[in-house]
Amino acid sequence: MKMQKTAVLVKPDGLQRGLIGEIISRFERKGLKLVGLKMVSMTDAMLSEWYAEHRAKSFFGELKEFMGSMPIVAMAWEGVDAIPVVRKLVGTTLGREAEAGSIRGDFGMSQQLNLIHASSNEADAKREIDIVFNVDELFEYSGAMECVVYAEEERVG
Ligand code: CMP
Repeated sequence: MKMQKTAVLVKPDGLQRGLIGEIISRFERKGLKLVGLKMVSMTDAMLSEWYAEHRAKSFFGELKEFMGSMPIVAMAWEGVDAIPVVRKLVGTTLGREAEAGSIRGDFGMSQQLNLIHASSNEADAKREIDIVFNVDELFEYSGAMECVVYAEEERVG
C-alpha cells in the first residue's frame, strides 16, 4: 500500500473520439485525485524519450508520428497504489480483448489505436510525468473526499 502518482495520456484517437470527459470522470469516480492536467503537442524528442523501450520495434516511427500528429491530453493522478489501479481501469493493450468495464474494453477495438496510455511502474511514472509536466504544473492539495475514500490507516505516504 503506497501513495503513488501515475501518468495518463489520452492519445489522438481518444481526443478525436470525444472521450476526454468520460475518461476523467472514470478516474474521479474511482476516488483518484487529479494533480496535473494539460493539453500538449508531443515533440519527436519527447516521444523518443517516452517510447524509448520500443525504439527497436518496427512500429516505432509510425507510433511517434501518430502520437505527434495532434495534441494529446496529459494527466497526473494520485492515490494509494494509483499505478496498478489506473492500469486496471484502462484495461489490456488490445482493445478487442480488453475486459468489459475497462476504458479500452468499453471503447476500443484496436491495438495501435488503444485510446490511452497509463504508466507501468514507479520508475516509468516518474520519467513520464517529468517528460510532460513542469514542476509548477503539478499540484498538492488536500482532497476533500479522502476521508470517505480511504480508511484512516490507508491514508499513507
Ligand atoms: P501502449 O502500450 O500505451 O504503448 C506502446 C504503444 O505502441 C501501444 O500502447 C500502442 O498504441 C502502440 N502499438 C502497439 N503495437 C503496435 C503495432 N503493432 N503497431 C503500431 N503501434 C503499436
